[in-house]
Amino acid sequence: MEIKFKELLNCAIEASKNSYSPYSNFPVGACVLYESGVMYSGTNIENSSYGLALCAERNAISNAIANGEKTKIVAVAVYSPKQKMCTPCGACRQWIAEFAKSENTKIIVEDKNSDIKIFTIGELLPHTFDLKSAKK
Ligand code: THU
Repeated sequence: MEIKFKELLNCAIEASKNSYSPYSNFPVGACVLYESGVMYSGTNIENSSYGLALCAERNAISNAIANGEKTKIVAVAVYSPKQKMCTPCGACRQWIAEFAKSENTKIIVEDKNSDIKIFTIGELLPHTFDLKSAKK
């Protein structure tokens, strides 16, 4: 399927504006595209009990699951106005891998020149412990 990278990144940019991040002051937005063609957005949500912070990517995936999405993730865009190349944290990489179409699922970020930079989940999380491993 055709991936509209810019549209996905713009969706992440919009979502970052809804961030609740008074502790880190580091807003993040994510937008996840599924094989169904539907995009789901998420933002980070922090808490006075700091360790309970929820990342934008996991918020977006939770949004998809809560809305009954059953297809695989084709691409994920992540954006923070505070940092170029805002790639997903380790926990979010593992979450993305769980629902990814393949190792080739795209991770889209903005580079230091504000150009689109594309990784694959396989590059960011190689040799993944996945469903196949856990079900042995
Ligand atoms: N954060 C995300 O939302 N996604 C990531 O992949 C990395 C970190 C959030 C969590 C916390 O609210 C803030 O960024 C600073 O770590």
